[in-house]
Amino acid sequence: RDLPPTPMWGYDGRSPGPTFETVRGEPLLIEWINALPTTHFLPIDHNIHGAEHTKPAVRTVTHVHGGRVPAGSDGWPEDWFVPGRSALLHYPGVQDAASLWYHDHAMGITRLNIYAGLFGAFNVRDAHEQALGLPSGDCDLPLILCDRLIGQDGRLYYPVSDDPSAPWVPECRGNGVLCNGKLYPYFDVEPRRYRLRLINVANTRFFDLSLSQGQVFQQIGSDQGLLAAPLRRLRIELYPAERGDVVVDFAGMAGHTVHLNQQSEAILEFRVRDRGRRDPSVLPATLRSVPRIDPATAARHRVLTVGERDDASGNPMMMLLDGRMWSDPVTESPKRNTIETWSFVNVTGDAHPIHLHLVRFQIIDRRPFDLFAWNAGRVVKYTGPAQLPPPHEAGWKDTVRADPGMVTRIAMRFEGEPGRYVWHCHYLEHEDNEMMRPYQLL
Ligand code: C2O
Ligand code: CU
Ligand code: CU
Repeated sequence: RDLPPTPMWGYDGRSPGPTFETVRGEPLLIEWINALPTTHFLPIDHNIHGAEHTKPAVRTVTHVHGGRVPAGSDGWPEDWFVPGRSALLHYPGVQDAASLWYHDHAMGITRLNIYAGLFGAFNVRDAHEQALGLPSGDCDLPLILCDRLIGQDGRLYYPVSDDPSAPWVPECRGNGVLCNGKLYPYFDVEPRRYRLRLINVANTRFFDLSLSQGQVFQQIGSDQGLLAAPLRRLRIELYPAERGDVVVDFAGMAGHTVHLNQQSEAILEFRVRDRGRRDPSVLPATLRSVPRIDPATAARHRVLTVGERDDASGNPMMMLLDGRMWSDPVTESPKRNTIETWSFVNVTGDAHPIHLHLVRFQIIDRRPFDLFAWNAGRVVKYTGPAQLPPPHEAGWKDTVRADPGMVTRIAMRFEGEPGRYVWHCHYLEHEDNEMMRPYQLL
């Protein structure tokens, strides 16, 4: 595939940006300097926000996704800054080991800035995880996946709508999958265990990953760190912003090539070559305890719609959370150190990956409901049994797939510093077009 190089934006001049290595208990300060050019190379005027949210075109603010970070350092979408400016943000390092990632979060143009390349991996390690003896060093690597629409000229294209009544595209799907910023790269591996931190940073693409040659994934973690025990899995499914932490063992595969497949398409090649090193890593039978949050201990149960349309606006493509716009007053104000359950009532025909900043949560269940009863009186009438999360979704999460026709319930304890945070759909086109809401931690 001899394409000319693709101009992208990045952190420290590359996309993905450098991987941050952080350790629990060691606070970190990062100065994020906006050294972007003064014009955007992607079309910026297709957005349902008013002009205040599309100008200036080049501005950014960085958010560490999954980070337990004080409000002032969390990357509030309106705290963006322009080229030549910077922001000094504080990462206290007060959370369990997890595979986080960082990305742009500028109001109204996050979909374009991330699409342009503004993302990278952010690892948090801790003593408990280090003691497990999992593959480490050059055998522990992030695999950052996204799709992009790449033209014959090698340039990135972002789809624009030609329908004036629907100014934005509700999804963006590419013609190629990038792994760590490359189209169909290869990776030289040894016949031993590797830890691969799969991160879906795509705007809309859902990944359904498998390995060739009969290889399996041992899934050891999800969004917010280790599962209770490794899970043997043939496929790993990731919605945008979700992570899957896996161990893959190439022992006995020397001389072979193993593909990582997205559905039926190979997106990455592992070339297994023996270099005579032994494998000191282990895969323990148990990883950590994940105590269940009892929903009965919640101080508050909130019921929130996903994708309710604001008919009064006349905009046929507006997607909202609980029927409210970004600028409407805050309605979710959890109290510090209390447990809440949030029920996402998905009234649309599609799944939406819903993400809360600051907190980690557990999925309680998903349960089908009667849409007519809901529309008639905002009453949840269940029409079938509750489905408990499968084991790979039973760990700590920060992004959850809210399925269509289902009420998806999560439970969390609101730990952290008081202040303003956000929750939103992580389909970036939705996030930028009013599927994002503030919340206030009291
Ligand atoms: Cu990936 Cu608001 O974040
Ligand atoms: Cu986030
Ligand atoms: Cu959505």
